[in-house]
Amino acid sequence: MESKPGIRDFYECANCARFLLPEILDLAAREGIFRRLRDVSPFTFDGFCDALEEDPGYAVSEGNRRRMIGVLVDLFREAGWIDHEDGGASRMPEEECGRVEDAQILFFRECLRHVPAFLRGEPALFRFDDRSVATWDRFLGCSSFRSCRRMLMELMGVENSPSFRLLDLCHGPGWGLADAVASYPEALVTAVDFTDSFARLAKERVNGAAGEVSGRSNIRWVDPGRWKGFGSPLPLDDGAFDAVLFSCGDPYIPRTIRKDVYRDISRVLVPGGRLGILTRAYPDPGRRHVLSSGVRIATLIHDFSEGVCAGWEGFSDPEENARMFEGIGYREGRGHRGRKSFLDGTLWVLEKR
Ligand SMILES: C[S@@+](CC[C@H](N)C(=O)[O-])C[C@H]1O[C@@H](n2cnc3c(N)ncnc32)[C@H](O)[C@@H]1O
Repeated sequence: MESKPGIRDFYECANCARFLLPEILDLAAREGIFRRLRDVSPFTFDGFCDALEEDPGYAVSEGNRRRMIGVLVDLFREAGWIDHEDGGASRMPEEECGRVEDAQILFFRECLRHVPAFLRGEPALFRFDDRSVATWDRFLGCSSFRSCRRMLMELMGVENSPSFRLLDLCHGPGWGLADAVASYPEALVTAVDFTDSFARLAKERVNGAAGEVSGRSNIRWVDPGRWKGFGSPLPLDDGAFDAVLFSCGDPYIPRTIRKDVYRDISRVLVPGGRLGILTRAYPDPGRRHVLSSGVRIATLIHDFSEGVCAGWEGFSDPEENARMFEGIGYREGRGHRGRKSFLDGTLWVLEKR
């Protein structure tokens, strides 16, 4: 019997992510990043990027690499490795002990190994294609994500009723679908993704989950050939859904089209329908949205590491998001004391007005 979704898995995982700090420190030392940081005095971000372009030869103007350097600097600050005022290298991190073999940590570690080559201009390590399916499957099936998805569906008020229509947007390997089918076997679930690389695995997983509950699943699979991905309209009717589950996909939306993508998601929801997003909020300087230091550091480590995956745009600013959602016509999820964000900016629940 599986345990009920709880916040323990989530915070345990955030703490686990801190085990990667010494590895990132090693990486920065090996690559001469700290030395360059000290050389740039007074510290400016542009000056630091220029220095890294010169030596060790990072391709900072290509793709998301400049942003990755920015995330690294924020991580150094958050961990107390550089002074807040002038950016100068100051103290070393406290030694973390032990090695945790969590699926998320293993994925981040694999990504971190590729960072030096990627920053020098090598191609991305993982894509949403057949070659990377097994890696995504392991990473996305970790206990923290699984608890978060289940918690999110509870917060969204998903109902176990044949009249309740749930969309899993960007279903990937099908972990969210399997949980939906296991917890809400009567609901009518629609699954869409822009690639067919995940279809076979997701179908197997859903059939397994359905077999354990009722032996059937009310899933409608949208042919991936019908959707070209973010930036093109979803091949789904207006007002077709009571809820949309969008898990671990937000950081892959190109920055310039975020508003269009969320407007299109709103189009397929009924008025009063709910959108649930599993992601992270980028740690805000004012600490109003992401309070826990463990989660802030874990978020920056995650953002930096997954930066080597094709299409990664990173976690976004919680205040900008609040304005964007408000402008589109979403309001904070009703029924939960008007809150829209849970677990330090990890779960967002929005309602279409
Ligand atoms: C990290 S996976 C998350 C999968 C799944 N929702 C989960 O929680 O396990 C990101 C998902 O976004 C999809 N995706 C990535 N880039 C995309 C794009 N440009 N347009 C549409 N979907 C995209 C991928 O196919 C994948 O299903």
